[in-house]
Amino acid sequence: MEGANNRRINFQSRRCCSTPAMASLPDFSDSYIEEIKKKIRKRFERENGEDNAQKLDESKEKNGQDEEEKAFAVIFSLRNQVCGLIRALRVFQENKVDVAHIESRKSRKRPSQYEIYVNVHCEESQLKDLLHNLEHEVECVSLEEFEKGEVDISDIPPPTPTSPGFELSFDGMPWFPRKMSDLDKSANRVLMYGAELDADHPGFKDETYRKRRKYFTDLALDYKHGQTIPYVQYTSEEIRTWGTVFTHLKILYPSHACKEFLENFNLLIKFCGYRKDNIPQLEDVSRFLKQRTGFQLRPVAGYLSSRDFLAGLAFRVFHCTQYIRHSSDPFYTPEPDCCHELLGHVPLLADASFAQFSQELGLASLGASDDDVDKLATCYFFTVEFGLCKQAGEMRVYGAGLLSSVAELQHSLSPSAKVLPFEPETTCVQTPLITTFQDLYFFTDSFEEAKEKMREFASTIKRPFGLRYNPYTQTVEVLSNTRKIANLVSELKGDLCVVTAALKKIRGRKAE
Ligand SMILES: [Fe+2]
Repeated sequence: MEGANNRRINFQSRRCCSTPAMASLPDFSDSYIEEIKKKIRKRFERENGEDNAQKLDESKEKNGQDEEEKAFAVIFSLRNQVCGLIRALRVFQENKVDVAHIESRKSRKRPSQYEIYVNVHCEESQLKDLLHNLEHEVECVSLEEFEKGEVDISDIPPPTPTSPGFELSFDGMPWFPRKMSDLDKSANRVLMYGAELDADHPGFKDETYRKRRKYFTDLALDYKHGQTIPYVQYTSEEIRTWGTVFTHLKILYPSHACKEFLENFNLLIKFCGYRKDNIPQLEDVSRFLKQRTGFQLRPVAGYLSSRDFLAGLAFRVFHCTQYIRHSSDPFYTPEPDCCHELLGHVPLLADASFAQFSQELGLASLGASDDDVDKLATCYFFTVEFGLCKQAGEMRVYGAGLLSSVAELQHSLSPSAKVLPFEPETTCVQTPLITTFQDLYFFTDSFEEAKEKMREFASTIKRPFGLRYNPYTQTVEVLSNTRKIANLVSELKGDLCVVTAALKKIRGRKAE
């Protein structure tokens, strides 16, 4: 059983990839903690003025609030051991320290290495215990001044003529990419897998497979916007695994897949080397998609957060794995792999209406609250991953999780599957299942209908401005004032003139 586990967005656990060892351990003495406290106090002073900082100190002294909760950033690198990250995170749990945010990132001190960055909220006494206990489980740990938001304000792209939202205040709003190259900042924030496999992964005990995964992880981590995606020489074992999956699914597609999928699948066979004895190259597929819908692929090392993954869709960029599942069971994978991406996702990314639906989901997520991003990710899950549609009076499949799973593809159209109409308000509160088939599937009459419903739903998301993707500059424009909206209306008028003129010509030809 495979498809239920073929998940891009992980709703249950948030994990990071492994990191190499780093240098010496700091001493978490009272003076070290005091030093961090001073830094935090200085930041408060910088942002709120010296008088307010003084008042805060006086108030604390008066009320004896030394043990109030504060935000800290704990940074550590993992030891080279099994389940290193899980052991480290257990320390946070055991010390009852609330983790607000976690990511893996390039080390600021040693750019060739990776580290785990964790924002926590806790009391200082708790923090001290946490750091002492953490020392036993990780290679190196340090404490830094808390960075406001997920990314420091200095990471926000500089103003450009095509980035009119620059003047907005970003206080309290999560960072989001404004131009396509900004995805370089988020594409490597891998939450799960990457180079490290869990003990229950089919390839965990296979040293050759693990080395191979490290190779693919490095390819993805080194990739930068605008580069050619590296061509991969797949091994005969990998091609055999692909061939098994390809052959079984290809038999089911004509009776199960929606017509848009089938049309594009045939084009991929013709133009991109979709064959049982060949794993298509991401670069070839990406070029094909660019010509069809403007979508492009970007290699990724493993799971991204919902926010980072959806942000890519806003730019018509699909984060895509390049490795393949373990050969021991071609019909099972606990994570997305290139069979899932190339067979499940790519054919529909080549459909104009579906591409627009995917992009609008992505645009709705930019700058949205965590709660709203979760709702959008759940809608994504039950549509793009597990969605059904009615075509010519029959139920058909368009979800990639189903179209890449032999077992669940058949189950989803069987009488035992429970199917309801897609309604974002109800769909977004459903629970996606991880280890079994879904309890419930949602269908739509057309992608156009799904788009309309999602548009309506997205309009309820609280955001102080509208966003629009500008395909000419590959930037997200923030429509924050009437001047910008007037410019957009002027552009749209130009497009409408083109459409009106074309319609007149068609009518003229018919009248002749
Ligand atoms: Fe997927």
